[in-house]
Amino acid sequence: MNRERAVRALGAWFDGGVQPEPLGAGHINDTWLVRHGGRGYVLQRISDAVFPDPAGVAARVAEVVAHLASGRAGVAVPALVASRSGQPWHRDASGVWRMWRQVTPSRTLEPLRTAAQAESAGRAFGAFQAATADLDLSARPDPIPGFLQLGHYLETLDRTLESSEMADGAVAEALAVIDARRDLAAALAGRDRTIHGDCKVDNLLFHPDREEVVAVIDLDTVMHGHWAWDFGDLVRSAAARAGGGVDVALFAALARGFLPAAGLDPHPEDLALAPRYVALMLGVRFLTDHLAGDRYFKVSAPGENLARARRQLALALDLEARETTLRAAARRR
Ligand SMILES: Nc1ncnc2c1ncn2[C@@H]1O[C@H](COP(=O)(O)OP(=O)(O)O)[C@@H](O)[C@H]1O
Ligand SMILES: [Mg+2]
Repeated sequence: MNRERAVRALGAWFDGGVQPEPLGAGHINDTWLVRHGGRGYVLQRISDAVFPDPAGVAARVAEVVAHLASGRAGVAVPALVASRSGQPWHRDASGVWRMWRQVTPSRTLEPLRTAAQAESAGRAFGAFQAATADLDLSARPDPIPGFLQLGHYLETLDRTLESSEMADGAVAEALAVIDARRDLAAALAGRDRTIHGDCKVDNLLFHPDREEVVAVIDLDTVMHGHWAWDFGDLVRSAAARAGGGVDVALFAALARGFLPAAGLDPHPEDLALAPRYVALMLGVRFLTDHLAGDRYFKVSAPGENLARARRQLALALDLEARETTLRAAARRR
């Protein structure tokens, strides 16, 4: 992160003399905490490595925030702070910047430890879908082309394979797991509503001492999608145990929170399928990046993306093996 350019961008909001400090553990944007006039603010540079159109992302996020600000129950997002020229974002030579009000006091919780935390996390993301149900983004381009779409990533994998000569045993094994499950792409392909698009626990701010979400953040990937992509990503990221498998009690708690808040009553089969879809999709993305020479996901050593792919595929297999248990847990929830 480059402090000088953050200080320069800050001038679009405040007079000089304010020092930004790095904030949080986000992997995508540059995020800075700014204190000014006794208040906390969060300054962000929207990643132009991940988003092809950062200004388009900033505009859509502003639209989502305005939509949610008009008194919708059950979900809170931080307020955007307009620049001195009255804009919800600011573009300069270094990129596209925006400013949030800091949600304070609050904490991020990673990983989730209790069923109460999981239920609250599920409820927050479910309520987000319900609150954006009347915000139709179906005519907008995806924030990242093909994002969350297994079919799209399978096509990219196939193209990459044509020009790749890497054929060691581990790659072949991963490919065999993927090839036997290509039909998952069609199972959850139909897009029907606005989704958050990045349902990770670190995109929730919790009350400092209660097990309760106070705000949903990181709205850059809000898009037209399938409800199950959000639920699946939440389960995949929040209910996977360190050892590799899925924690069934956390899965049930996430479903208990998410479904009623989202206003959904899907078939238990789709609930069990959702995390598998997302785990397979991510496995495909990591494997593709490994084959393409680690262009998208940063690695600290060669082979790291292959290892990440293998972890996601192992999780997909575990979820598959536990299909009956998960369905039963979803029914009981
Ligand atoms: N409005 C806010 N109030 C308090 N903390 C915030 C706020 N916005 C972001 N953060 C902190 O910064 C981190 C990164 O922000 P996020 O928008 O998730 O960026 P990224 O896309 O890089 O993940 C969050 O996980 C959180 O810890
Ligand atoms: Mg984030």
